[in-house]
Amino acid sequence: MASPLSFPVFRAWLKLLVRRQRAGLGDRAEMLRDVVALHLDEHEHKAEAFIDKLRDELNASHEVIQMEDFGAGTRRSVLSSESKPNKRGISEIYRRAAASPAWGRFMFRLVRALKPSTVLELGTNLGVSALHIVAALDLNGGEGSLTTIEGDPTLSEIARENLAKLTRTSRATVQTGRFDDVLPTCLEEHGPYDLVFIDGHHEEAATLRYFEMIKPYLAPGACVAFDDIEPFRPVRKAWKRIIADEPNSGAVDLLGIGLWFAPLDVADKESDAKPSTVVQ
Ligand SMILES: C[S@@+](CC[C@H](N)C(=O)[O-])C[C@H]1O[C@@H](n2cnc3c(N)ncnc32)[C@H](O)[C@@H]1O
Repeated sequence: MASPLSFPVFRAWLKLLVRRQRAGLGDRAEMLRDVVALHLDEHEHKAEAFIDKLRDELNASHEVIQMEDFGAGTRRSVLSSESKPNKRGISEIYRRAAASPAWGRFMFRLVRALKPSTVLELGTNLGVSALHIVAALDLNGGEGSLTTIEGDPTLSEIARENLAKLTRTSRATVQTGRFDDVLPTCLEEHGPYDLVFIDGHHEEAATLRYFEMIKPYLAPGACVAFDDIEPFRPVRKAWKRIIADEPNSGAVDLLGIGLWFAPLDVADKESDAKPSTVVQ
């Protein structure tokens, strides 16, 4: 989810992508136009400024941790069947794996706009994207909660500490374990989900598998955000298959993140045959 563009260019680029794909988005086009404007009110600014401070601390950290490599070193690497113990600096992990500030703000605005009650994230890492999500849930008010899954126990603990600096513990739960092992219980106990962010194990077959596991636990109209769908990445192949095969009531390709929306109701499901709404 790298955003090498400057912030104003990034925002203009997102606006253009949403405008080009608005025809297939129906009522969601307006919501997404608002999200990608990335404007913040006073309270939102305060929340994001707090996260910026935590980001600065992670970036400046000299701490080195022993961790299992589940693909945290780079957003592009994938989980190997035998994960290897590794020593990594927190600052390196932050720079290579955490959501950029621009995409973090996008996730924040998305949660503000969708007002989900239940959010699931695959791939916690240091908890940076989770911070943006829970900051938005806090501002939304109510009982909205995030469950986020991380394979590495040390990263999970750091993420818990980071989240505790921002919010009360009931708002966010970090589950430690492999997605394949943890997801079934998580879905059963905390689903259905209104918003899911898939940001780990960036491999085609794995992404398709997780999506299949998650699909029965999506609330009507739920949004699934896929990270790492830039051209030539393995997740892009999974994304293309999902939008081609799946009945949906809208999808938007933002060239870093793709958003897929579940049908709103049974009537939507009956029009399964309609072609993908994404304009490439
Ligand atoms: C790109 S990072 C997540 C970044 C985070 N969402 C953020 O933006 O701050 C992906 C994380 O998923 C974890 N991961 C990858 N494959 C996994 C698997 N199969 N089970 C559990 N965790 C996994 C990695 O350890 C890594 O920390």
